[in-house]
Amino acid sequence: IGQNVIAYDEVVSTQPLAHEAAAKGAVEGTIVLAELQTGGKGRLGRPWHSAKGTGIWMSLIIRPAIPLPKTPQMTLLTAVAVATTIREETGLPVKIKWPNDIFIGDKKVCGILTELNAESDRVNYLVIGIGLNANSVESDFPSELAQIATSLRIESGEPLKRVSFIQRLCRIFEEEYDHYLQAGFERVKQEWEDHSYTIGKWVSLQTISQQFEGRAVGLDEEGVLKVEDQAGQIHKVYSADVNYRAN
Ligand code: BTN
Repeated sequence: IGQNVIAYDEVVSTQPLAHEAAAKGAVEGTIVLAELQTGGKGRLGRPWHSAKGTGIWMSLIIRPAIPLPKTPQMTLLTAVAVATTIREETGLPVKIKWPNDIFIGDKKVCGILTELNAESDRVNYLVIGIGLNANSVESDFPSELAQIATSLRIESGEPLKRVSFIQRLCRIFEEEYDHYLQAGFERVKQEWEDHSYTIGKWVSLQTISQQFEGRAVGLDEEGVLKVEDQAGQIHKVYSADVNYRAN
């Protein structure tokens, strides 16, 4: 991971550039980086604020030989790798909010956007976008983010060395990824649950088909979130917007 680095000054988004590189045959582990994104993309069609030089805006190309339904596991693996890297580089206490947000306290420091290129049931490649607020100061965030976003610099009081962070992230990702390909999802699941902000919390979920509340109890062996409702029934949640309740 990271043997091939494509670095830009200014782009609209690193995601389509990574897709382009992958389609042209870029090797697995290629990363696309930019100092500034003018049209950074978040999940669910949301924008991702990506001011110049304040973050790590990167897209990683991987080509795992896994069936389509297992691709969400790659997002969980990425979240574990980023969380571990933050902990090792800064000592800050990080939590993962299902499925892919990384929090410090009650503020988001990193988001992950996984995009898939597949034919029928075969994965061609994944583009995993990682947006990490590294060196932003409070005034870098637009007002609507000020209450909900933070950066490693704000939290630690020290500037982050981005190159050394990316190097460590590539090493940790590679180690997790190799282990996952050989031994399966169990270790990622364990590490994800250990870092989880979501497990044990009372959540209110809005999925495409329904709205319900319950307690998040863990991941299943596929990486799907299990939520237990008041009647004790377990629901499996593949994709949803999650709200947290004080309860
Ligand atoms: C989210 O939490 O909504 C996901 C945010 C993902 C942002 C990263 S920054 C690098 C890559 N390029 C983009 O346009 N988006 C991802």
